[in-house]
Amino acid sequence: MAIREMFDSIAPRYDLLNRLLSAGRDIHWRRFAVKKLLTSLEGPYLDVATGTADVALEITKQAPTCRVVGLDFAFRMLELAKPKIAGQPIELVRGDALAMPFPDNTFLGSIVAYGVRNFPDRLQGLKEMARVVKPGGRVVILEFSTPPGLVGEVYHLYFHHILPRIGGLLSGNPRAYSYLHESVEAFPPPQVFCDMMAEAGLARVRALPLTFGITMCYVGEKPWHTET
Ligand SMILES: C[S@@+](CC[C@H](N)C(=O)[O-])C[C@H]1O[C@@H](n2cnc3c(N)ncnc32)[C@H](O)[C@@H]1O
Repeated sequence: MAIREMFDSIAPRYDLLNRLLSAGRDIHWRRFAVKKLLTSLEGPYLDVATGTADVALEITKQAPTCRVVGLDFAFRMLELAKPKIAGQPIELVRGDALAMPFPDNTFLGSIVAYGVRNFPDRLQGLKEMARVVKPGGRVVILEFSTPPGLVGEVYHLYFHHILPRIGGLLSGNPRAYSYLHESVEAFPPPQVFCDMMAEAGLARVRALPLTFGITMCYVGEKPWHTET
């Protein structure tokens, strides 16, 4: 099943499953990442793969007057986002993160939460996120990671055996939640991903572990001058 259809199929239970399967930690992770994104309260900011707009809403919570654009290619995810963003300065755009419909240097910063793992060409997605950000702006990525040691083993058991069962049962799409665990395990280790961010043209790249490294918050900056 293609990624877009998969997200369309799990959309109605997406928010509930996020809260349940992360024991509410996902709210804290998004809040942390948005704090890293905001360099000014003015905006505009771009939330890539916005889904049901939780990150876009967190941006307007922390910077109430700033304009936010949420981009996603899954129609049903965006339909669920619409009532949630009512009255907020958020605009939803349907489009592909690998070929964004925005000019260069449009946003003060761009962020993607739990979306980059699904991009068929991650480097291209990162280049796009950097392209649309003004020099000096930040590019922030929130993504699951596989923690080392004992925590990693417990996490593996949970991700491999428990999460796909609960996710499959409640969403009606068991494949989507076994895909989640497979794609997290196939995601590159933090240092390799940081190198990819640097290859996309970002500077001062760092990986900040959250909750024992279950999730990583990657931060990079678009340089003022590109090396020639
Ligand atoms: C796991 S959800 C994350 C949603 C949201 N960022 C959050 O924090 O809850 C991943 C989202 O990425 C979107 N997505 C995946 N690949 C995409 C692409 N190439 N272009 C646009 N959206 C994409 C999916 O449609 C889905 O809504």
